[in-house]
Amino acid sequence: MKIRKVVLPVAGWGTRSLPASKVIPKEMLPVYNKPVIQYVVEEAVRAGVSEVVFVTNRHKSVVEDHFDRNIELEDMLARAGKFDYLKAVQEAGSMVEVMAVRQKEQLGLGHAVGCAATLVQEDFFAVMVGDDFIVGDDAGLVQLVQAVEKYNKPAIGVMEVPADKIDKYGMVAGEEIEEGVFRISDMVEKPAVGSFDSRLAIVGRYVLPRDIFRYISCVKPGKGGEIQLTDAMRDYMLEKGMLAVKMKGRRFDAGDWVDYLSAGIYFGLKDEKLAGPLREAVAKLIG
Ligand code: G1P
Repeated sequence: MKIRKVVLPVAGWGTRSLPASKVIPKEMLPVYNKPVIQYVVEEAVRAGVSEVVFVTNRHKSVVEDHFDRNIELEDMLARAGKFDYLKAVQEAGSMVEVMAVRQKEQLGLGHAVGCAATLVQEDFFAVMVGDDFIVGDDAGLVQLVQAVEKYNKPAIGVMEVPADKIDKYGMVAGEEIEEGVFRISDMVEKPAVGSFDSRLAIVGRYVLPRDIFRYISCVKPGKGGEIQLTDAMRDYMLEKGMLAVKMKGRRFDAGDWVDYLSAGIYFGLKDEKLAGPLREAVAKLIG
């Protein structure tokens, strides 16, 4: 099964990244030489996605602009013979078709996804939370696409977290039906520490059925008074079943400063031109 479309909610304030995110959307903060959101979109493209629906607010139009062509800039780079930069700029501008819909009020992740309802006609579509990025060529959304193909059920990405962190995530419990694939039996948004046995946390990767929009429109405000995607998924799961897939690879949470800074170093070290001097500079700082 091909998953063509991803809904990417980017309307949040990004308070954890302030003051850096005061004017620049948190999704546009650079991790090495690309904005955070580009890594997320690249993961979607690796999973076969070709259309992105950004759920935005009026301060976030630069997110769409990043994935649009910039002919003026491209002309300048071509004239100056700066072909490496030209290639990078063109790549960002042509990797996906871009659509956007406004979330006019911040009423929660479920509400944000619900805003995209009219732009999603496909039986299954992906949702990605832009703060989480997962690295590894065969890791992340592509694993969910494979699971949905095999079992014909919606699937969400999970990772194990320590018991004292379960109140930071949507948590799922379930029976393992294949290594790393679980049939979900329960799902709770940010349960209190000690109140939920499983340590499988939702990490912001979902392949959902279009029917989920109906469930979203029926859920009442949940945790934090928000319309929670987890609550809508739970209702769906109880009726029709849903899978959780343990994500391979490494996850960075862009809203966490240790993860954010580590991600910059991780991608810097992957660039052979930078790796040597960067390793030396970091060693010197630490030493
Ligand atoms: C959201 C979801 C939560 C999930 C998390 C992953 O929470 O509601 O279920 O575990 O993303 O990043 P947020 O971090 O937006 O509060």
